[in-house]
Amino acid sequence: MSTLFSGDFLPRERSTPSPGATHIPGWLTLEQQHWIVERFREWARGPVPPRAARIGAYPMSVRTVCLGWHWRPYAYSREAVDVNGNRVLDFPEWLLQLGRRAVTEATGDPAAGAAYTPDTALVNFYDSAASMGMHQDRDERSRAPVVSLSIGDACRFRWGNTEGRGRPYRDLDLLSGDLFVFGGPSRLAYHGVTRIESGSAPAGCGLESGRLNITLRETGLGES
Ligand code: SIN
Ligand code: MN
Repeated sequence: MSTLFSGDFLPRERSTPSPGATHIPGWLTLEQQHWIVERFREWARGPVPPRAARIGAYPMSVRTVCLGWHWRPYAYSREAVDVNGNRVLDFPEWLLQLGRRAVTEATGDPAAGAAYTPDTALVNFYDSAASMGMHQDRDERSRAPVVSLSIGDACRFRWGNTEGRGRPYRDLDLLSGDLFVFGGPSRLAYHGVTRIESGSAPAGCGLESGRLNITLRETGLGES
């Protein structure tokens, strides 16, 4: 990533990389980021430890801990059946409220924000070597937006199209505190993380190295 014209040097603007997808740089304050990292440390000590999910024979390079519902390729369950069988922690109220604010600000539509009821969070930790291949988020029955929060090291985020993993795509930098929301016609767009910019986490964000990404989703699975 070119750092000369990013980060603190020039203000980064809100953008809409495709209809229904919104990037809002610097949405979380450093204090909020730090507080969320403290919550992450609690979640990681919880009933289900962060684990590298296996895609076929291969472990993913990110480690994931889930709230509300446990995700595994390619299903949700209340218990982490592919880890230790324990039920995951409840989805916290503050994360529901934060998700609603995120959707309101991304869409400009308070009614859309108020209606948003995420019930799962996938919390991914990337070390400096981790990445995530191009994929769709399609294990949810609901097509409500996905809210993504980034903390720690910056990443190169590849934002693609709904047809396949290849071009056209755009590469964006997601920095600590950034919000990315995708819904509507972009809800099933392919996306991935091609690299982590080691050493770019800002002082005070709570992480000295690595990247935390939290995605909020509505599973559409109800209370079962
Ligand atoms: C994801 O696609 O689930 C995570 C994306 C990211 O880490 O920004
Ligand atoms: Mn995804």
